[in-house]
Amino acid sequence: MKKSVLFVDDEPLILQGLRRMLRAMRGEWDMKFARSGRQALEIMAQERFDVVVSDMRMPEMDGAQLLSEVKRRYPDTVRIILSGQSDKEATMKTVRHAHQYLFKPCQAAALKSTINRACALRDLLAQDSLKRLVSRMESLPSLPSIYTELVDLLQSPDCSIQTVGEVIARDLGMTAKILQLVNSAFFGIPRHISSPAQAVGLLGLDTVRALVLTVGIFSKFEKEGVPLFGIDALWNHSIRTGAICKAVALKQKMDRQMVDDTFMAGLLHDVGKLVLIANIPENYGALLREAKEQEASVYEKEVQALGTSHAEVGAYLLGLWGIPDTIVEAVAFHHAPKNCLAEGPVPLTIVHVANGLEHDGNRSLPMENAVSRIDFSYLERLGLIGRIHEWQEICNDIKEGVRPDD
Ligand SMILES: [Fe+2]
Ligand SMILES: [Fe+2]
Repeated sequence: MKKSVLFVDDEPLILQGLRRMLRAMRGEWDMKFARSGRQALEIMAQERFDVVVSDMRMPEMDGAQLLSEVKRRYPDTVRIILSGQSDKEATMKTVRHAHQYLFKPCQAAALKSTINRACALRDLLAQDSLKRLVSRMESLPSLPSIYTELVDLLQSPDCSIQTVGEVIARDLGMTAKILQLVNSAFFGIPRHISSPAQAVGLLGLDTVRALVLTVGIFSKFEKEGVPLFGIDALWNHSIRTGAICKAVALKQKMDRQMVDDTFMAGLLHDVGKLVLIANIPENYGALLREAKEQEASVYEKEVQALGTSHAEVGAYLLGLWGIPDTIVEAVAFHHAPKNCLAEGPVPLTIVHVANGLEHDGNRSLPMENAVSRIDFSYLERLGLIGRIHEWQEICNDIKEGVRPDD
């Protein structure tokens, strides 16, 4: 089905340029063009749009204001910001309501692939089987409040290592968990870290923020007294996968944003399992037992029984929380990366491999069988097949707890 896309820019020349550049897309997209945020909202009141692509700097209503309004009125519409290169840092910081960020000048191919990827992800998360399953669920956890507080703090001029450290330090349970994690061998820090502020200073704000989110989610499930089995194993697997993701992304020389996104996606890739165990404990427990007895893949069992899997359920939850699209995409496709339209390498690529390598030989994890699930033809397509041994070594070092200076 044709997708409907609305472009918003106060510069008539830019709109004209987009119209020309995207002429070839007319068979796939219905396109409309608006010269201001106000006009965009008027057009949107008349018809439904799958995607809105907005400029950042516009008089009266800027891109950030427009997208937050679009989010409120039409939460299912994909929101993309297309801003000037010079505003890059500021845009990433201030526009919280965009699913994707693009920077001018933007080639038709990049625009096309970004829009198509975002639509494919929405389509996946709008599947009937997933909706049916989610609608049966009584409680979907809310975003941990301490994480929201950190995201807000990041936008404020008061943000510093100290203030971030103070927010985390107020929560004693969280602080203890974070310190235990950052002092574990996974993070390869040769000295002892004794406060959240020190952790932020050494590991960076984004790494600590991702850890806060992960600790927050896992503790919600523990607190709710869900009869989980294997939660410790799942926790260890998640942390190790996150650490492998980060190390591999750094080795691949991905940019900082990609490294951070890959790390967070690695930590959260199996969050859907927590949601399933908490909400349909009997069915899911039986499914896990069966997979174990038959040495079958949990993912495939889920698809057979539920028509969807923990990957889509986890992605659905993260999407609901407004976590960036690249992370949601990595979680959604981590067992079926070939279904993703990205030409990669993207965070998904690393999460898929790190998850496979982490499971490989890991018989302590009752929730997934130990068969390697790496899709080699996908890696071949991306020209990355030659890297697998190098990544395997990184993974072994992390699993064995080898620190960089050991
Ligand atoms: Fe998984
Ligand atoms: Fe996993």
